[in-house]
Amino acid sequence: MYLQINRSSDKTLTQQVYEGIKANILTGILKAHTKLPSTRQLAKELHISRNVILEAYESLFAEGYLEASKGSGTYVTEGLLLENYALGTETPKEPLLGLLHEPNKSIIDFRTGVPSLSLFPKEKWGRLYKEICESLPAFSLDYHEPRGCYALRYELCSYLRRTRGVTCSPHEMIITTGAAQAFNLITQYFTKINPDVIVEDPLSHGITDILEQAGMSIHPVLVDAMGLSTALLPSNLTPSLVFTTPSHQFPLGSVLPISRRIELIRYARNKGAYIVEDDYDSEFRFEGAPIQSMQSLDPDHVIYVGTFSKILCPALRMGYLILPRHLTSKISSVKYTEDIHSPVLEQLTLSKFIKEGHLDAHIRKAKKYYHAKSKLLIHALRQKFGTEVSILGHSAGIHLVASFTDITFDTDLLSRLEKNGLRLPTPEAHAMVKGRHMHEIMIGYGNLTDEAIIEGIHILYETAKKQQKK
Ligand SMILES: Cc1ncc(COP(=O)(O)O)c(C=O)c1O
Repeated sequence: MYLQINRSSDKTLTQQVYEGIKANILTGILKAHTKLPSTRQLAKELHISRNVILEAYESLFAEGYLEASKGSGTYVTEGLLLENYALGTETPKEPLLGLLHEPNKSIIDFRTGVPSLSLFPKEKWGRLYKEICESLPAFSLDYHEPRGCYALRYELCSYLRRTRGVTCSPHEMIITTGAAQAFNLITQYFTKINPDVIVEDPLSHGITDILEQAGMSIHPVLVDAMGLSTALLPSNLTPSLVFTTPSHQFPLGSVLPISRRIELIRYARNKGAYIVEDDYDSEFRFEGAPIQSMQSLDPDHVIYVGTFSKILCPALRMGYLILPRHLTSKISSVKYTEDIHSPVLEQLTLSKFIKEGHLDAHIRKAKKYYHAKSKLLIHALRQKFGTEVSILGHSAGIHLVASFTDITFDTDLLSRLEKNGLRLPTPEAHAMVKGRHMHEIMIGYGNLTDEAIIEGIHILYETAKKQQKK
């Protein structure tokens, strides 16, 4: 019997003997009824302790690969040849600490939705997490209720009342795994009741994917310079949900004016529909007072969705839902069947982070940081393109939209840009009805250095101008 033993492998010797014999049996090298060497003999052959072989044989007996015969000895069980048995010999690469995939340093990526990852207050968060772990009584490590930890819901409610005018109590809040799970919970529940849903066009294709997967029928309504065109809301449709980003339209960046907000609420009331208010990044508002939530106008018809992916970082996977009271237990049941509840230690850390005032301080600091980045980007765009460029959606968030009079961002130009080292997202890629946004690009600047922003705009200018001269 051929067994390869590697003393520098991270697998134990027992594991190696067990896996080696198992693979020999499943691939037919060791046929049914073959007698195996005695444990003493095999130990001698492989120069390893007999206990190792005993342990490996024991596991193979327990799983039914081996059987003892009436007389004496150990035999291979009948009928164990498995066609195309995957040997799994490939050793996975050692992971780099904390790194999912190494960012491609040769390309400047204007992708949206990523805040400055180096701004995340790691030390503070680590200290609070340690304090929580050390002070937590053992019973807190049991299962919790699906809505999440009361302490976090309590802190979040008072924060949202204060900063976003949201009308809520901890009872109507569910802590979710990012906004993505919040959208999933809502759509899973409503798709069975009425699958018709209205969305803004363009919108985040993350949301389109969720709605499609849930089997909803998507009805796009055009976004103009002021946001969702409420005059175009279909009168011949009775949707269950209307998805909107009123404080900072994604991707175009407009703020929905109060007249349209009222029109949308009237529409929802008439149709018995719910508005899903996706408030993904409006904490970072650079001009004027913070925009109040739509939810504050009609908490019975608006489902408010928030996330910490932009305020803190996406890796936290922390978001929340505020629901009209009669929906809370229904959506909680969906959350329960999906993952029982979100991780408790992170929730308690975030709760302490808010309670001790670190969230407010972080937002103040981050807002200044992003405002400076946004101004630098706008300056770079104006310097290169002058009056050929208009800037949209720059009053909030961590991305803006640049619209050009003479540049068409077709696949040819986008791939040329990528070859020259600049990757660009476009509103056109997020649009359901194609062809309306060919002159616009999105620029996510949250996680870019000043140098990368300036270099990116330089590449954009050189590549686009070369194309125009052709
Ligand atoms: C429009 C919109 N809403 C919400 C989110 C946040 O998703 P999550 O909280 O799951 O990270 C994103 C992410 O980029 C987004 O683009």
